[in-house]
Parts: sequence; structure tokens; C-alpha cells
Amino acid sequence: MLNAKKIKQDFPILKRKTQGRQLCYLDSAATSQKPRHVLKAMDDYYEKHNSNVHRGVHTLSEEATELYEGARKKVAGFINAGMKEMVFTKNATEAINLVSHTLDVKKGGEILSSVMEHHSNIVPWQLCGAKVRYAGMDENGNLDMGDYEKMISEKTRLVAVTHVSNVLGTINDVRRIAKLAHDVGALCLVDGAQSVPHMPVDVKKLGVDFLAFSGHKMLGPTGIGCLYGKKEVLDSMMPFMGGGDMIREVTLAKTTYNEVPHKFEAGTPDIAGAVGLGAAVDYLSSIGMGSVQKHEEILAKRAVEELSRQGVEIYGPKKRAGVVAFNVHGLHAHDVASMLDEHGIAVRSGHHCAQPLMERLGISSSARASFCVYNDERDVLKLASSLRDIIDKVGGRLQ
Ligand SMILES: Cc1ncc(COP(=O)(O)O)c(C=O)c1O
Repeated sequence: MLNAKKIKQDFPILKRKTQGRQLCYLDSAATSQKPRHVLKAMDDYYEKHNSNVHRGVHTLSEEATELYEGARKKVAGFINAGMKEMVFTKNATEAINLVSHTLDVKKGGEILSSVMEHHSNIVPWQLCGAKVRYAGMDENGNLDMGDYEKMISEKTRLVAVTHVSNVLGTINDVRRIAKLAHDVGALCLVDGAQSVPHMPVDVKKLGVDFLAFSGHKMLGPTGIGCLYGKKEVLDSMMPFMGGGDMIREVTLAKTTYNEVPHKFEAGTPDIAGAVGLGAAVDYLSSIGMGSVQKHEEILAKRAVEELSRQGVEIYGPKKRAGVVAFNVHGLHAHDVASMLDEHGIAVRSGHHCAQPLMERLGISSSARASFCVYNDERDVLKLASSLRDIIDKVGGRLQ
């Protein structure tokens, strides 16, 4: 089992207090905290190797290039992708937009998204000019697989689906969805923003064409994200942005493009960010993603039990990743989150960038506790007892 007490000590921020209380950070689905290893790797980069990549023949530039490409190798290996299949982006959102901007959606072509998606896997498709359809969800928070079977047709160009819901914690069968897409010649893009940080993900086993994720949700820094794409699919796509590094040759008449993944990385990239993400991958790998997943699922299960005892409404299926969205009867989610903050507990509240999902659930907002490697059972118990205090305190006012 994972030693969360020891792991906690690797995260300097978890030593601080908020509102005079020991910080209990339960908002990792929004962004995770960073271990000392990641901070040190980035400091080291700036202190000893800072230079631009792919451009110079001097020592520092070669070192920076080695670190940057070394980080790509680590991140690619983490999801069982090849080096040429791993494009660095700013975040998961940019990774999805890269595909939505460059995908050749023929006239009459359709994109199939779902009601469970984060806005970043809905809005780019609405912007790309294709007709967007949405698979539904059942009462338990599971995607309606019947919809996928019915709605995927020869008109479908791409199926865009989240691996794990950032609200419900639902773990979707993306392997099956990719197969349905491929059966009609469509591509499958998976939003891995909430899966890659929390469970073993193997793109070859899943058989997906694209996987988008963000470094900052997986113990890495903000400003760096990733797009995995099958090599032959990336090769067939036009560049996303034009500029330095993405070219092979430029004349005043025309430009030829660099090979993938560089074709999609115009301009100076976030080198320190990539180095930090590489260190985050090392850190997660040393724990083991199987253990990470088990640990967080146990915490989520425990949280559901404890919160149910306090009479709060919980959304999502029984089997879930480490995400628990809930509402306290009679209280707005923002008030719940503010009151928890007074107890030193950080949870997210609002629509979680998933307004269509909120509408499907018949609510406008919820509070959300989300777990990571550094959380333990005490965090769950603290959340439950603080909610008890809040409900007792305001209970009278709500009558
Ligand atoms: C499921 C899901 N997809 C995409 C995103 C977007 O991530 P980012 O803002 O890092 O691009 C998030 C962020 O919360 C998410 O939870």
C-alpha cells in the first residue's frame, strides 16, 4: 500500500496553514500540488542548464535539448507512446484545440462528444464547424453505451470522450468507444486530464488515436500539457501554429514542415515545464500507478460512505475514481466551500466547467472533493467532521 503520510512530507505546501488551520487539500482535480522533486528539477534547470532548445551547438543548448527531449521520452513512456507521438502543448485544452483546428472535417462530417465532458472537450468541437452530437448518460452517471452504438455512423469523423469525469469520477470504457469509432473509420480522442494522473494508462492497449492531458494535474507545473497522437495520424495532419522550430525549410514562396512532434511545437517551448513534468512522471512511477489508483479509489469510497452518513447528496456511480461531488441540502455549493475553507479544507465549488453535465443532473453547481497521492484517511474524516459541524451550525437557520 501507498504510504501517504510519508508522501505528504514531499509536498512543502501541505505544511502550511490556511485560516489558522492545517491545510487539507482536496482540490487536486483542479490542480495538484507539487513535490519537492519537481520544484528542484525546475530550479536545477534554470540554475545550471537554461538555454534554448534545438537551436544552438553550444553546451548549454545541447544540455537543455537533452533535458527537454529526455522529458518527452519519460512522458511518452508513462503512457506507452513513442517519442514521435508525444507533442508538448500548454495544457489539455490546447491539446484538444490542436486537433480541432487541424482535423479535416469533411462537409457533413460529425463529431460525437458527450454530456459528461469538460467544456474543453465540447467548445473546441462547436468551434470547428462540424455538426456536434452528444452521447447521453444514465441515472447512475455512466455513459449511455447504447447512444454510442446508435449515434456513431459513417458520418462520424471523430469521437471525443473523457476517460474519467472531473465531476462524477466515472471511469469510461474508452477502449470500447475507440473500437466503435474505428469500425466506421472515425478517430477517437480521449480527454485524459483526470485519468493519466491517477491510474495506469496505456495508449496502445486503449487503442485510441489521441490522448490529451495536463502536467499541472499530475504533480507537474502549470504551462505544460501533452497530446499523444498515433504517428500516422499526426503525420497526416496540418500544423497547428506556424513559426520557429516547426519548419524544415522556409522560402518566401513556401514552407516545408519539420517531422512530428516538432511540426506541432512552434516557437520556444516551456522547457522548464517539460523538465518539471518529467520529474513528476518519475515521482509517480516510483510509487506505481496501480497503487495510486487503488489508494485514491479507497479514499473516494470512504468519502462517499462518510459523507452519506452526514446526509449530503452525492453524485456519480458507485465505482469511481478519486472524485466526489456533493451538495448539502439548503446550502449553495459556494457557501459550503467557503465554510470548509474556514476549517482549512480546500474543495472546489461551482459547475466544474461542465455545465451540460450539471444541467443533466438538474443542478447548477456542487461542491467537489478530489483526492491525490498525498491524501489519506484523516483528510476524509476531517472533511466529514467539518461538514457535520457546518450542517449542525446552519441546520437551525435552514428550518
Ligand atoms: C476532464 C477535464 N478535461 C480537461 C480539463 C482542462 O484542463 P486544463 O485547464 O489544464 O487544460 C480539465 C480541467 O479541469 C478536466 O478536468
